[in-house]
Amino acid sequence: MHIPSLSFSVTALSLLSTAVAHPHYAQQVEQVQRRQEADASQRAEAVREAFQFAWNGYYRYAFPHDELHPVTNGYGDSRNGWGASAIDALSTALVMRLPDVVDDILKYVPTIDYSKTSQEVSLFETTIRYLAGMLSGYDLLKGPLSDLATNQDAVEALLTQSKNLANVLKFAFDSPTGIPYNNLNITSKGNDGETTNGLATIGSLVLEWTHLSDLTGDQQYAELSQKGESYLLKPEPSSAEPFPGLVGSNVNIDTGLFVDGDVSWNGGDDSFYEYLLKMYVYDPNRFSTYKDRWVLAAQSTMKHLKSSPSSRPDVTFLASYSNGSLGLSSQHLTCFDGGNFLLGGDVLGRQDFIGFGLELVDGCHDTYAETATRIGPEQFGWDANSVPADQQQFYERAGFYIQSGAYILRPEVIESYYYAYRLTGDPKYRDWAWDAFVHINATCRTDSGFSGITNVNAVGGGSKDDNQESFLFAEVMKYSYLIQAGDDEWQVSQNGKNGWVFNTEAHPIKVASQA
Ligand SMILES: *[C@@H]1O[C@H](CO)[C@@H](O)[C@H](O)[C@H]1NC(C)=O
Ligand SMILES: *[C@@H]1O[C@H](CO)[C@@H](O)[C@H](O)[C@H]1NC(C)=O
Ligand SMILES: *[C@@H]1O[C@H](CO)[C@@H](O)[C@H](O)[C@H]1NC(C)=O
Repeated sequence: MHIPSLSFSVTALSLLSTAVAHPHYAQQVEQVQRRQEADASQRAEAVREAFQFAWNGYYRYAFPHDELHPVTNGYGDSRNGWGASAIDALSTALVMRLPDVVDDILKYVPTIDYSKTSQEVSLFETTIRYLAGMLSGYDLLKGPLSDLATNQDAVEALLTQSKNLANVLKFAFDSPTGIPYNNLNITSKGNDGETTNGLATIGSLVLEWTHLSDLTGDQQYAELSQKGESYLLKPEPSSAEPFPGLVGSNVNIDTGLFVDGDVSWNGGDDSFYEYLLKMYVYDPNRFSTYKDRWVLAAQSTMKHLKSSPSSRPDVTFLASYSNGSLGLSSQHLTCFDGGNFLLGGDVLGRQDFIGFGLELVDGCHDTYAETATRIGPEQFGWDANSVPADQQQFYERAGFYIQSGAYILRPEVIESYYYAYRLTGDPKYRDWAWDAFVHINATCRTDSGFSGITNVNAVGGGSKDDNQESFLFAEVMKYSYLIQAGDDEWQVSQNGKNGWVFNTEAHPIKVASQA
């Protein structure tokens, strides 16, 4: 069913090939493996130190605001001022076993007033960062990391506050169809007047809201999110599904009808597909229909969206599709795709998905390997007819040109390396993740944390944008750490049976039941 365990390293395999000439090869293989494990644990420790360094800077200059401005040592409140970085950091501090950081966050959680903010609230962002961050902390502290629960009341407050937050947000689903509005005024219980909502913003709530119901026994949260999702599972009209399983980008909130048939795995669409599979990992009994839709989408993606640059036929990217033509452009955000195909291949025992997932991981690695900073760009293209004159040479060599050269501390490339390493055991992916981490550290680090940069293809990264997104804590640090760390029950498992599933912000959620 599942892929063979590649428990040998590449180096070890080359030793194996000389085995005939060398009677003591088994000992040597063992030595190489032991050395690699020692390297990995040193790397894990270095990532843990970098996390602690960033936490210290945030705590000193920005806590409990949403994020640090790491160049000027100021702060921002881009996520409603409820302490987004603190909540996003909790599950990472837990899996890294940093008791002091965990304690600081646990003391803070009961003090948050989710009923107050002066800004518009995004249902999607609030769900994937705050709700998932608290639920994940609760799962870990009630389960395998209960020894880090310094304060039982604060652990219970994680769940109480999750319910409080969902109760503040749930009016979002009060629409003619039950499809939620995304941009909310929680004071007036109003919204921004948009008549449509997006595929990912409707379709990446169901894991968190269902889990909240499973933990509290109150079904309303699961029912609300699944009702919204139901329009995505049975898309209407038929033009909304140009290929089996691949659907349009925007849905009319009043009618439930898709307003386009534009298909992609890019930002805005991405985590809809991600969650179809992850709901099945969460509970294969309740969510097998979601899995069937994911399988259709994955098969159609391999058939219709697989794309290679003319200058680099060895490289695979995912195109988008609109009204009969392919868009030859993709994003850093899209690079979760390799990891998602690998997880699907592993859970469903499908070698074709695993093979394709590894091709996508290679393609996203290429976007890092070819730039001056060794960090990949926000957006890139490979349409041979649209190569900017000053990037012709770059396109010939790299197989893409840069459309937006920013890097804002996104995790997706390292995230896919994580799945590739966990599911194949090939240490190459650990090396790639380490390489990315070292270069992010070299280019983005400031005196108090990590900053986004404006140009991945300039030495030094262009200039710093003075912003440290909360997902630096939740995702970049977590995946960089977990890929080097040893086995733990929340790690993705090679045998297709997972006790935990990562939400789209990398918060591990305890699954409801296993296949
Ligand atoms: C939300 O609605 C209240 C009451 O109508 C209004 O005073 C406030 O400005 C609105 N907030 C935003 C962010 O639009
Ligand atoms: C789709 O393409 C056809 C033919 O190329 C064109 O006539 C039509 O206007 C396009 N539709 C949209 C919605 O762009
Ligand atoms: C990260 O950067 C700091 C400061 O330059 C340096 O001391 C540290 O060794 C770096 N860590 C890694 C893993 O490269």
